[in-house]
Amino acid sequence: MAQNRDQWGSKLGFILAAVGSAVGLGNIWRYPYLLYSSGGGAFLVPYFFALLTAGIPLMILEYGFGHKFKGSTPMSLARANKKWEWLGWWPSLNSLVILTYYSAILGWAINYLVFSFTQSWGADPNAFFFGEFLNLSDSVFNFGGFRPAIFAGMSVIWLCNWFICYRGVSGGIEKLNRVLLPTLIGIMVVITLRGVTLPGAAVGLNKLFTPDWSRVLDPKVWIAAYGQIFFSLSLAMGVMITYSSYLPEKTDINNSAFMTAFANCGFEFMAALGVFGILGFMATSQGVAIEEVAKQGVGLAFVVFPKVFTLMGPLGKIFGILFFVCLVFAGLTSSVSMVEAFSSAVIDKTGANRKKVVTVTAICGYLVGTVFATGSGLYILDIVDHFINSYGIVVIGLAEAAIVGWLFGTHKIREHVNPISIYPIGKWWDRMIKYVTPAILAYMLVQNLIAEI
Ligand code: PHE
Repeated sequence: MAQNRDQWGSKLGFILAAVGSAVGLGNIWRYPYLLYSSGGGAFLVPYFFALLTAGIPLMILEYGFGHKFKGSTPMSLARANKKWEWLGWWPSLNSLVILTYYSAILGWAINYLVFSFTQSWGADPNAFFFGEFLNLSDSVFNFGGFRPAIFAGMSVIWLCNWFICYRGVSGGIEKLNRVLLPTLIGIMVVITLRGVTLPGAAVGLNKLFTPDWSRVLDPKVWIAAYGQIFFSLSLAMGVMITYSSYLPEKTDINNSAFMTAFANCGFEFMAALGVFGILGFMATSQGVAIEEVAKQGVGLAFVVFPKVFTLMGPLGKIFGILFFVCLVFAGLTSSVSMVEAFSSAVIDKTGANRKKVVTVTAICGYLVGTVFATGSGLYILDIVDHFINSYGIVVIGLAEAAIVGWLFGTHKIREHVNPISIYPIGKWWDRMIKYVTPAILAYMLVQNLIAEI
């Protein structure tokens, strides 16, 4: 067992790190499109419902659990009941898997950050991205076309991942977040303000928010809302349990959970405004409908946005640079949280020294990640991402809520967090964890399985 457990320097340091983990690619390139394509303003109903019935309750659970048992996810579960340790390895491994492709995407973003200076994606960013840059092969089995530039970008990210976690919780992760998170928020405010004041922005914002109430009746939209809340809040990944295990005795857990959740959701809402303002500008200046330019994920960040930056003229260079800095910063504060979630599990289990464990974890993740620097990288990424989102997070979230709700006893967590929190949580929280969250996650799981057939 690890002695002298590292601790956050302050509660603010912890909140910044937790928000840093939550705010990531999911907020910048997933949420805006999801909001737009799932009913616009009407999507806010399932989204807030998911936040209040699953996001915040599970965040309190994870914070309370980590804080009570002072261990990584497997260690905390083992301390609650020896038989549950294996369950804690799932989220830790899940984090490691996400980390391999997440870091590869950040490696692309680093390349694009460099490209932004000269806008080297040229007149056809689509052909550039899939052809010249990724060298996408014709099938998932064709690994040819190794890309040294992508590999170099990934190497930078992995070096950062390693260096930060090597320096520990307060000396590495906290310091990183103290600098990057405020900078990231500042840049996002600038991008959003400019985005919503661009000519044509109103077209994008109208499209984004016009509510389509019929979508609220579609179960798929509800599943998407819950999926987004889980991924975006870094829940069921072992991250929040691990981070809260480094908190001092007296920390307001309930307040911290609310703060993290609202900061994350505020950030993604702001990102949605900025992204759709920019897309409105693009659609208007090209004389096309917003449907034609609205994209998410890699298509948004590496194809549509570069096009917009070129359209913006000289200012586009600055915007391109700011946008990719934003992606890299947001991603880095998330990726270190995944390294930490896995490494701390190994440190607790073996009692080995942090520096050794972090080094071995980083080398393994880096080596596995090289597959994403090959011609079939994007195909593999899509497959892994699909399984993690449809099953990994759902099954683990379900197991977590069911175990605490039905076997461990929600009251034990409630009795632990209430005396140290200004605003106590009531029985409503127990009901969420016992009934609502597991029922919804079980439904999601069944629906995802049906969709597979
Ligand atoms: N929450 C991060 C995002 O929105 C992703 C993440 C998932 C981070 C799991 C840590 C663990 O991009």
